[in-house]
Parts: sequence; structure tokens; C-alpha cells
Amino acid sequence: MSLPDLIVRPRRLRRSATMRRMVSETTLSADDFIYPIFVDETIDSPREVKSMPGVSRIPLSMVGEMTQQVAALGIPGIILFGIPAEKDAIGSGGWDDNGIVQQAIRAAKAASPETCVIADTCFCEYTDHGHCGVLHGEDVDNDETLLNLQKEAASYARAGVDIVAPSGMMDGMISAIRAGLDEAGFKNIPIMSYAVKYASGYFGPFRDAADSTPSFGDRATYQMDPANRREALKEAWLDIEEGADMLMVKPGLAYMDIIREVKDATNVPMAVYNVSGEYAMVKAAAANGWIDEKRVVLETMLSFKRAGADLILSYHALDVARWLKEDKG
Ligand code: PBG
Ligand code: ZN
Repeated sequence: MSLPDLIVRPRRLRRSATMRRMVSETTLSADDFIYPIFVDETIDSPREVKSMPGVSRIPLSMVGEMTQQVAALGIPGIILFGIPAEKDAIGSGGWDDNGIVQQAIRAAKAASPETCVIADTCFCEYTDHGHCGVLHGEDVDNDETLLNLQKEAASYARAGVDIVAPSGMMDGMISAIRAGLDEAGFKNIPIMSYAVKYASGYFGPFRDAADSTPSFGDRATYQMDPANRREALKEAWLDIEEGADMLMVKPGLAYMDIIREVKDATNVPMAVYNVSGEYAMVKAAAANGWIDEKRVVLETMLSFKRAGADLILSYHALDVARWLKEDKG
């Protein structure tokens, strides 16, 4: 037996860590992350979310300190979710200028003015039935919910939010919110749209964390069917045409193909939400010693970037920022 005349040798560029670093196509930095924070109006001390080890609901009094901690790690943004003391059928807590998220926005901006404070803009945390808007019978009424979204976004803007992030998948939500913000004097507040959000089993732990499990049915009449990819492009383009400044794809891991396709088809910054169920699976396997948590998490985050994400919303963000610092030495 003899060797072939020509062997192409990609291994030449893998021979040392320095060489690999030189030819690496994708990088990860603390700048890429947004950290989700759950603020609970009904507690005085942090309460760990059982299915999300390392993540706690925090009281309003800790929001400033938490925001400073995020900023100190070099992470540019946070996204706020509120658990209000009182809920009602329409989610009116969402547009209360003294609501839990409005107070949290003010606390975060006071403690760390340079941090980009984003507010998840929806109603499932504020409604007593857990759906993302006003019900008519068992159906979420799209257009009535739009009117409430306008009030909610304007209220968050008055509290000093930097970006609103509507997550309810209502038709026309971006144009409605854009018009509402403009009319209220907030022409310069950007909208990050949860444009491509699938009706996913991976949101399970979040609904514990945010106390937002629907009391009946599911969200399949407003969130997307996991079977669809063409529809993802339709949703993404609709939202850009309606005025979205940034898009989001959610969940992340099972939708890497969608991240790539939306990125290639559009021209605005794109975020991916590495959701609660993805986090819970990694934490459970790591706790059992079945995977190397740091290695798996960094690999996953790098893969979101490689797939086309410009920004990553992740519960791992604080750990990732620490690990990146450590590795720099
Ligand atoms: C609210 C909202 C959800 C998530 C973000 N915003 C839950 C849902 O749609 O049921 C999920 C985030 C996660 O699972 O980490 N509409
Ligand atoms: Zn919702």
C-alpha cells in the first residue's frame, strides 16, 4: 500500500492554540449578552427558581445592586420581567406607572445609568389567566391587546426604559407600539421584536419563574408552529416593515436553522433567546456530572454567534462573562 500523491492538510492550521486563535472565524464577548432578571413585587429576599438553579426572583430592593453586578462583568444589557402583587383579567398592571417593572426600570437606571435596560412587553405576567392579552371567550383578542400594548410601552418609556421588547406575537404589535411611542413623545426608543417566537415546550421553567402559566389551553393560537420555517421569514419581514429596530428568534438551540435563515434574509441586529428549558437541561446534566458545564455553555454560545446571532439573551450570561475574563487571564 502507498499513500495518495496529494493529501490536503487542514490540520496544519490546528497545530497550536495560537494558530487556532488566528484562524478562528467567530468570537464571543461579554458585549454579546443580555441578562434576564425576574423582579417579584411580593418578596423581600431572593427566591431561587427550582427548575433553574442559579436563577432567583429578586425583590425590587435588589434590582440596583444586581444591575451593577451585571455591568461590572461588562454585560451591556438586562431584560426585566415583573411578577406583580395583583393580577386581573386584562393585565392592567402592565401600564401602571407605578407597576413593578416601571419601578424596576427606575431602580436599574438609577444604579447603573449606562446599562441598557430592556423591558419584556407582554401581559402574561399581569393577567390572572396567564395569556398574553385580553380574552374574548377562550381567544386572545388581538386588536384590544394592541391598544393595551401601546399603553404599556409608553408607560415603560416614561419610567426610562431604553428598549421595549414585545413578546406576545400579536399581529400588528410593532406598528401599534411604534405609533404609540411616537405619539407619546418617544420617537427614539427602539423596539426589539420577539418576531420569531415558537410555541415551545422549552419555556416550561420560565413559567414557574415568572408565574405566567396559562390557566387553560396553550399559546398555539399566537406563537408559531415549530414545523414552520417560511413563516419565520414572513414574521421577521413583517416586523421590520412595521418598524422593528431589532429582531429576536426564540427558542435558540432547536432553531439554529431559523437563526441562520433570518440572519441571511434581513438587515437588522438579531438576538437569540437561549430559553429557560435550554438552561435547565444544561444545569441538570452538569449537576449529575454528565457534562462539563463551562465547556458546553461556551460551545453553545459560540454556536449561536456562528449561526448568526448578534446578541444572546441567556441565564448563563453572568457565568459566561466570568469565564471569558478568567480565560483572558
Ligand atoms: C412572555 C415570555 C415568555 C418567555 C419570554 N417572554 C414565556 C412564554 O411565552 O410563555 C420565555 C423565556 C424563557 O423560557 O426563558 N411572553
Ligand atoms: Zn406573554
